Amino acid sequence: MKELKDWFVPWLHTARVYDPSILDVAWSKPDHARLMLNENPIPPSDKVVEAVVNAVKHGNRYPDSGKRLRTKIGEMYGLGPDNVALCNGSSETIDAMMRLFLKPGDEIIMSNPTFGLFPPRAELCGGKVVQIPVREEDLQYDVDGMLNAINDRTKLILVINPNNPTGVFIDDADLERFCETGIPLCVDEAYKDYNPEKPSKADLIKKYPQVFLSVTFSKAHGFAGIRFGFVLGTEEMIAAFNRMFLPWNVSLMAMAAAEAILDNPEEIRAKVEHNNRWMKIFYDEAKKLGLKPYPAHGNYMLIDASMTGKTTAEILQAALDMEKVFLKRIGEIHGKSGYFRVTPGTDEENERFLKFMRAYFG
Ligand SMILES: Cc1ncc(COP(=O)(O)O)c(C=O)c1O
Repeated sequence: MKELKDWFVPWLHTARVYDPSILDVAWSKPDHARLMLNENPIPPSDKVVEAVVNAVKHGNRYPDSGKRLRTKIGEMYGLGPDNVALCNGSSETIDAMMRLFLKPGDEIIMSNPTFGLFPPRAELCGGKVVQIPVREEDLQYDVDGMLNAINDRTKLILVINPNNPTGVFIDDADLERFCETGIPLCVDEAYKDYNPEKPSKADLIKKYPQVFLSVTFSKAHGFAGIRFGFVLGTEEMIAAFNRMFLPWNVSLMAMAAAEAILDNPEEIRAKVEHNNRWMKIFYDEAKKLGLKPYPAHGNYMLIDASMTGKTTAEILQAALDMEKVFLKRIGEIHGKSGYFRVTPGTDEENERFLKFMRAYFG
């Protein structure tokens, strides 16, 4: 008799695992500041809550395709409703895009480091993840390195813009070089809304039909627990995503919440303003303490503290012990330990983080 494990697809055993268990720890310690998850610290407004409460009253019914919401979103990008596929947070897009483009043995090119969910979802399709380290001096994408890694098996390229965890935007001309390859390209704009002055790259899909954009409301909109995101692409691309997504993947409540926040842009503006104000304070404080913060354009800042001789594990433990602050572990970059990532929390939590920094590194 075969054992159960031998019935599973072989790549189940070899794929990297994305471990979300820190969430169980964080929820069980409500007095700890969760500055490690790129969450938004500000809860949904009453307007969003009311919309969700109204929607749940119809919770016995299956949701429709959300045409009014898709139209609203499309208009924000100069696109139509059929250029928009709604999803249950962009993690669902990450999963669907791997299944759309990768057969076992096919390759996806991305940077290292990257958002940790991408490699496992590719590997769970039997795909091979080709990761090209970011440039050492500025942590920018190594565009030449990524382009040189393209071969016959390359079926997908990923550019997160701005990148996670480094926080940097790619140059427009470099992004266009990826588009020019003709290979399907995911431009993940999870953090773009923290930069209202920067236009979205959605126009690329008009010139390059193999390009699609992934957007989430988990960050600037603060919907990480509500779960809402969308894909922008040509009608052909969107039809393909909709076949891969499950029907009814977005709940009535999530759609209602999304519409309510889009009708109330002030809520988004205030959340972005809170984040960006604290990001600047973190940056200045880290610099003052002799650390190397990277100029970041999302809700997270990568800080290089390797010059202090402390390892990442030591720093994370000290923040927990001294101020009950969770920071994000960042693996070695170019062989060096001592990097960590921090996301602004509430005012009170941010003050605790600063207190820790001054006491530990000062
Ligand atoms: C680049 C990037 N894409 C997607 C996601 C996942 O977002 P969602 O909550 O919409 O699944 C994250 C979350 O941190 C991210 O950093």
